[in-house]
Amino acid sequence: MKITLMRAAACLALFGSAMAHAQTYPTKTITMIVPFAAGGPTDTVARLVAQSMGTKLKQQIIIENVGGAGGTIGAARVAKAAPDGYTLFLHHIGHSTAPSLYRKLAYNAQTDFETIGLVTDVPMMIVARKDFPAKDMKELLAYVKANKDKVTYANAGVGSASHLCGMLFMTAIGTDLTTVPYKGTGPAMNDLLGGQVDFMCDQTTNTTSQVKGGKIKAYGVTTKTRLPFMKELPTLAESGLPGFDVAVWHGLYAPKGTPKPIVDTLAGALQTALKDPTVKQRFADLGTEPVAESRARPEALRAHVKAEIERWQPIITKAGVYAD
Ligand code: MLT
Repeated sequence: MKITLMRAAACLALFGSAMAHAQTYPTKTITMIVPFAAGGPTDTVARLVAQSMGTKLKQQIIIENVGGAGGTIGAARVAKAAPDGYTLFLHHIGHSTAPSLYRKLAYNAQTDFETIGLVTDVPMMIVARKDFPAKDMKELLAYVKANKDKVTYANAGVGSASHLCGMLFMTAIGTDLTTVPYKGTGPAMNDLLGGQVDFMCDQTTNTTSQVKGGKIKAYGVTTKTRLPFMKELPTLAESGLPGFDVAVWHGLYAPKGTPKPIVDTLAGALQTALKDPTVKQRFADLGTEPVAESRARPEALRAHVKAEIERWQPIITKAGVYAD
């Protein structure tokens, strides 16, 4: 009887300290892990959201870029981090494709994370170095097939969005190409601008300004509808790749076991950030927009991750693509 009372008292004390921690949270700087190199599209979304969330939470949120292996190195880092609310994780669609691409993943994409909310959906474009010898998608497809052993395709590693788009592209044209992996499409863009790599499929958050500046060429957008700010750019679906439809959703997470009151505080700060006029304007300038508030919630992201893992598993298996 005495031991039971002692255990009950210990549990109450632990519960009490967790609640006290939650009530004063946050009391120090928060780290948001981005699983790709600085300067890329995921990093861009993270910095915009972190800045605004930090204002709401009255605490600085710093970005730590942990790149490599298509985002899975950063994810593994977060899965092992302390569940105290001071480590967050911003990742994209790659969190739902990694379980099918990596047979020895160092974490479980669903059970090792608390979901906070969806953030934004970002279209992608097929873009090439500015002197690439094709004036439109029809010519690009012909050139790529005729020069498949010469043409180089950049991505951010197996599991990245640029890898996923490339996998769908190569499956659609029935041609494998030489791929050049980077720690993010920020560094990949540098090589595209310099002509060291031929083409890639990347998010509008990283390509729009370069295309508008005439520094790279755009051939098609990966969504079903054309971009409202670049209506002259056809969709891949209307350019010889019927059914091509992919956008890169982004979600915010914390390590499993992060107390619910803290997750709820973070979800509230995310929802406020997504209504921030500065965030909305910058997202619009980059070809995207915040998700509806109903999606910027833990349960919405949790359901979305599960559905996306189930959606991509047969597609990846059919493509026969594995990382390990
Ligand atoms: C990707 O290809 O997954 C992203 O564009 C990588 C990045 O954000 O750098």
